[in-house]
Amino acid sequence: MNAAITPTDDSTAHRDAESDAATTAVDRLVRIRELGPDDGDVVDVVFAGLSSHSRYLRFQAPVTELSAATRRSLTALDGRTHVALAAFTQGDPIGIVRIMDLDDGRGELAVEVVDRWQGCGVGTRLLHAARDRAVELGYRELVGEVLVVNAAAYAAVRRVFRITRVRRHGSELMLSIAVEGEPASASPVQGLVA
Ligand SMILES: CC(C)(COP(=O)(O)OP(=O)(O)OC[C@H]1O[C@@H](n2cnc3c(N)ncnc32)[C@H](O)[C@@H]1OP(=O)(O)O)[C@@H](O)C(=O)NCCC(=O)NCCS
Repeated sequence: MNAAITPTDDSTAHRDAESDAATTAVDRLVRIRELGPDDGDVVDVVFAGLSSHSRYLRFQAPVTELSAATRRSLTALDGRTHVALAAFTQGDPIGIVRIMDLDDGRGELAVEVVDRWQGCGVGTRLLHAARDRAVELGYRELVGEVLVVNAAAYAAVRRVFRITRVRRHGSELMLSIAVEGEPASASPVQGLVA
């Protein structure tokens, strides 16, 4: 497993250099592939790799198992109104990011990385891939709902995107996220294989 991002001093430049080095290592180790409706096993493996705390952060509720209805909605992927990209290392799925169309020109962003791989730059890698896909799909804005206590999610989103607005609703933050830039020309995201 790649070394975690562990800043050793308060220097922003130093921290950024370490983060960038870790991200480069993750780029080598991790492959991203778009998922399709037959990828339920990938959804299952990633869900199984989340601790109860991570599941709580991801679904904003205690979730001990994936109900059939939730599993169906997580695999209702059409490559347009619901897109999911998964990170794999040595063939094993370790994280998923998804964009769900909100019917108002915006998409909702959600991401999870299995606990064993958290803090290694995988979430950042997935969010970069999601940003490229969001640009391709024509989104100008994404929204993200994260719990106020979810510093990791806020940091990961902020590392990749410009957050234009944060609204608090009780224990949740609603993030408005600008989608900017061109899709990376050398993006290693593999298209959905039919
Ligand atoms: C949020 C999540 C996807 C981040 O993925 P990750 O692979 O751990 O994140 P990265 O290693 O790419 O780190 C991204 C940033 O988060 C920071 N971070 C990571 N874990 C952190 C933690 N526990 N507390 C505070 N910051 C943290 C990193 O330092 C980095 O910030 P920096 O670039 O400013 O240094 C992952 O923690 C996760 O799956 N959590 C459970 C599900 C969830 O909360 N999903 C979001 C709601 S939809």
